[in-house]
Amino acid sequence: MTTTDPSESFQIPIEAAERYESAFVPAFFAQWAPILCGAAGIAPGQQVLDVACGTGIVARTAADLVAPGGRVVGVDVNEAMLTVARRVRPDVEWRRGDAGDLPFDDGAFDAAVCQMALMFFPDRAAALAEMRRVVRAGGTVVVAVPGRLESQAAFAPFVAMAARHAGPEAVSLLSAYFVCGDLDDLAGLVESAGLRVASAEVHTGTYRAPSVDAFVTTEVESTPLVERISDDVYERIRAGAGDVLAPFTAADGSVAAPFETNVVAAHRR
Ligand SMILES: C[S@@+](CC[C@H](N)C(=O)[O-])C[C@H]1O[C@@H](n2cnc3c(N)ncnc32)[C@H](O)[C@@H]1O
Repeated sequence: MTTTDPSESFQIPIEAAERYESAFVPAFFAQWAPILCGAAGIAPGQQVLDVACGTGIVARTAADLVAPGGRVVGVDVNEAMLTVARRVRPDVEWRRGDAGDLPFDDGAFDAAVCQMALMFFPDRAAALAEMRRVVRAGGTVVVAVPGRLESQAAFAPFVAMAARHAGPEAVSLLSAYFVCGDLDDLAGLVESAGLRVASAEVHTGTYRAPSVDAFVTTEVESTPLVERISDDVYERIRAGAGDVLAPFTAADGSVAAPFETNVVAAHRR
């Protein structure tokens, strides 16, 4: 195996996966799961695949909707995420696998959903083609990714401020999450995979952090920017964040900012 194999390069420690489930799922990821499941029309008796399931919030939501008689499978490259998923919801099937080479037969599912992960895949077209392959004819594929950086009320000014302190490369380093933000481009990519787009919508939810400091730590330390900046620059970004996030900061110091997410639903032709 080479170091570019996603099954090797995406591994995170179990502590990080547990923190993802206890902190970030309730604060951010959980809110989109009912939207994806609704867009996919998930109903009792269906077979559903959650691609890049993480700790499994979408799979768990789908599992409640397919009962009785349905089946949900979550697949992810990251063994620690799957370990947490198995602990939280042992009745769902959890499999290790790469979105670009799904370990399932053609037409095995009624629906495949993928939440907040497509932007990280090295070959998005291949992943969409795989989702198309594993759903039956007429089956549904739904993807959700963050919307355009420019439309994100808190992230856009935060990234601009960070770039003033860290230099223009900070913009691309902090923007990895938003690279699929153009809704028309995303819908075009889905169509190119042999799917017929049924809806392409922007949904506004909320990004929550317990404090401005926590917001900065997550944004800087979960991106390559942390390796490129000095302690001094990091401190200036931290100080500047207080101003740019002030409109979204409550009296108790917590942050709650609007967050736009693109949701595209499509059917296999
Ligand atoms: C931000 S998390 C989203 C997880 C989950 N969908 C959710 O909404 O909570 C991104 C997930 O994508 C997974 N991932 C990244 N690249 C992948 C790939 N090539 N194949 C499968 N999973 C992948 C990561 O391991 C991680 O669990």
